[in-house]
Amino acid sequence: MKEFEEKIQKEGKVITNEILKVDSFINHMVDAALMEKLGQAIADHFKDQGITKVAAIESSGIAPGLMTAKALGLPMVIMKKQPSSILNNNLYETEVISFTKEVGYKLCVSKEYLSEADHVLIVDDFLANGEAATGAVRLIRLAHATIAGIAVLIEKSFQPGHDKLVSQGLDVFALARIGSLEDGKITFLD
Ligand code: G4P
Repeated sequence: MKEFEEKIQKEGKVITNEILKVDSFINHMVDAALMEKLGQAIADHFKDQGITKVAAIESSGIAPGLMTAKALGLPMVIMKKQPSSILNNNLYETEVISFTKEVGYKLCVSKEYLSEADHVLIVDDFLANGEAATGAVRLIRLAHATIAGIAVLIEKSFQPGHDKLVSQGLDVFALARIGSLEDGKITFLD
């Protein structure tokens, strides 16, 4: 998506050859008008696929997930990282290891909000190593629901996440695909 790539070029900050900071419009301050367009673009790609729910990975998946759900006229389910003490133990849970942050966390979702009748679209901000998305896939499978695909705002195509998911037969859709962050320069793939 051209407008999105231009915004990333203008406001994104290359931190290392592997990390891009997009805090000013995606995951700290959010450009709501742009996010609405990104959600619409994801919805356009996945419409007419019988999707029943959008699943967003907490926390930076929530903004794009919500905009996508709104555009599709569907509810969004949040895959949570910290099970709340007021939740009962009626949860699907899985362990995720974050390579970027070098920590593990538990991803969970209430059994009330996913069932075998659901066809789910997973939405997140970044696809890097694919661990978060793979955890979301595991949760959906625990519920015996089916997966329409995984939509991300930014795929870092030089990291293994894309291939890891596609090799499982999953449909991966990214609004911007970054081929390289070498030498402080953001290079997009077509
Ligand atoms: P994965 O998300 O593909 O599984 O890869 P990884 O485990 O490496 O990523 C861990 C966290 O780091 C994720 O956020 C992911 O969105 C974030 N991340 C990965 N690469 C980048 C990057 O280049 N820039 C930025 N800004 N973030 C990146 P998270 O732990 O789920 O955090 P949050 O959603 O609570 O913000």
